[in-house]
Amino acid sequence: MTITTVEHNRLRQNFEGLSSVWLFGYGSLIYKVDFPFIEQRPATIEGWARRFWQGSHDHRGTPEAPGRVVTLIEQPGALCKGMAYRVSPEVFEHLDIREKNGYLRFSTPMVFHDDSSAEGLVYIATAENAAFLGPAPSVDIARQIARSSGPSGPNSEYLLKLAEALRALGDHDPHVFELESHLR
Ligand code: SIN
Repeated sequence: MTITTVEHNRLRQNFEGLSSVWLFGYGSLIYKVDFPFIEQRPATIEGWARRFWQGSHDHRGTPEAPGRVVTLIEQPGALCKGMAYRVSPEVFEHLDIREKNGYLRFSTPMVFHDDSSAEGLVYIATAENAAFLGPAPSVDIARQIARSSGPSGPNSEYLLKLAEALRALGDHDPHVFELESHLR
C-alpha cells in the first residue's frame, strides 16, 4: 500500500496562529498515546459509529495480509465515545504519519462529559480510500484480526486494548465487544 494521506492532510487545515488544537481519538489514539498533549478529556461525537472496516497494511498487518482497524462510519444519531487531547499543531506532523494509511483529518464538534463542547479534528478513513475493507460478518472480522500481525504488533492486541480502554471510559460499544468475545 504505497498511497498515503500525509500530503493531503497537510493541506486540509490551516493551523496558522493557533497555539493548540483539539484531537478526538476513538481507536488506538485512546490507548496508545505516543505524542505530547497539553490536556486530555473524555469526549463524545455524534453521528458516527466505530467499525473495524479499515485495512491495516502498515501497523497491524502487512500489504500481503492486512489486518483490520477502526474507522468511523456516518450513522445519524449514533454516539461515539473517545478521548480528546489538546495538542500543539506540530503534533499533527507525527500523527499524519501514524495515520497515513487512508485516514483524513475532519473537523467535528465534540461534547465533553460536563456538557461543554469544542471543535476538534478526527482521523477518518472513508470508503473511498484504497485500504478500506468495509463490512463483513463479525466472526470473519474476528478471524482476520486473530491471524493478522504487523510492525506495531498483533492485530488482536489492538482489539483487546481498545475494548479495555472503552470499558475504562464507561462505553458500551456492541460492535467492538462482540468482536472481542469472538476473539476470546
Ligand atoms: C483513532 O484512534 O482515532 C484513529 C484510528 C486509529 O489510529 O486506531
